[in-house]
Amino acid sequence: MKNIKKDFPFFQHHENIVYLDSAASAQKPQVMIDCIKHTYETSYANVHRGSFPVSDNITEKYEQARKTVAKFFHANPREVIFTKGTTDSINMSIRTLEDNGFIKDGDHILLTEFEHHSNLVPWLQLQKRKNIKIHLAPINDQQELDIKEYENLLKKHPIKITAFTHVSNTTGTLLPIKKMSELAKKHNAISIIDAAQSAAHIDIDVKDIQCDILAASAHKMYGPTSVGILYITEELLKKLSSPVGGGSMVNQVFRDSFEEQEYPQNFEAGTPPIVEAIGFAAACDYINSIGKTKIYEHEKELTEYAYILLETLPNIKIFSHKKSVGIINFFFPDHMSIQIAEELGERNICIRAGRFCTHPLLETLGISSSIRISLGMYNTKEDIDTAYQALSEIIA
Ligand SMILES: Cc1ncc(COP(=O)(O)O)c(C=O)c1O
Repeated sequence: MKNIKKDFPFFQHHENIVYLDSAASAQKPQVMIDCIKHTYETSYANVHRGSFPVSDNITEKYEQARKTVAKFFHANPREVIFTKGTTDSINMSIRTLEDNGFIKDGDHILLTEFEHHSNLVPWLQLQKRKNIKIHLAPINDQQELDIKEYENLLKKHPIKITAFTHVSNTTGTLLPIKKMSELAKKHNAISIIDAAQSAAHIDIDVKDIQCDILAASAHKMYGPTSVGILYITEELLKKLSSPVGGGSMVNQVFRDSFEEQEYPQNFEAGTPPIVEAIGFAAACDYINSIGKTKIYEHEKELTEYAYILLETLPNIKIFSHKKSVGIINFFFPDHMSIQIAEELGERNICIRAGRFCTHPLLETLGISSSIRISLGMYNTKEDIDTAYQALSEIIA
């Protein structure tokens, strides 16, 4: 993993930058940028409609991208819908389940205290439309999901849908998603996984996890912005019609009715994110070329390294674990988190401070803001050393 930065032109433009904000968005490898540029320059047209070779060719590339992204998640291409990203995928899932009668007044929904607002606010919005009850499975003293209580909530209430993050974007905590999906199945609940923070770091096998729905964003996986994946099992897709209407998702339209296309096309109304999806596939290919296991091991080592160093700073309170997935969240009671982040920023060290779109989680942790270091495959021990040195000086 020594020379990985050379694959990312950003680091040639900013030689002295220490980029520790990949959980917000990851930098882009040259091969992905080249793929997008090349597609726009040589092959661009709209998909699925033309009767000319360039359109046929880009349609083939777009559908090939679906196959590549599906394979990355061990899914069937027919189960992969391209969306704008995780937020869009989760909103779309809720609308789809609601429109198709899977959510009724009186239903119970189970989330966790770790959820990013993307997997909380759309449910709260649903609560305005429907008389539903939302439960948040709590975190325990070790700042992990209280799996016993999660199971108790499934036993105690008629949970219709359970939606949970794979990795917390705030603490990097890994949730036992396979166990949670199994428990959901046992209690006849539909499971939805927010994989925004895991897809770039851990091999995700949707068939092994046996979840019903999964969402992820390409931009956190070294791919372009404005594209993501909504995976829905074929078994469920067969029972669903699309909540969005428009061109490309219909076979026939009459004055008073229409006939929907087969999935996944029926979920992709209008012009889809064509070149973005092709770039997404290039990012998946790039990750595969480095190796998911190698990336995982490298980031695991770096996270532990950063944790051990940070632990030595006076008065630090760390909200992550040594085994957190590429994220270390911490706080100094005597310093303003935002001010520390700004001072680090002035020294070309990019980290984030704030509430990370997880206001209820920060309330549980008893803090109003904290600082987050988040890693990508290109980070090195030298990056961590630089950040540590700067932090030591700032808080001294
Ligand atoms: C856990 C988690 N879920 C959802 C999202 C939303 O992702 P996007 O902004 O790509 O839709 C994020 C973004 O940071 C996240 O960290």
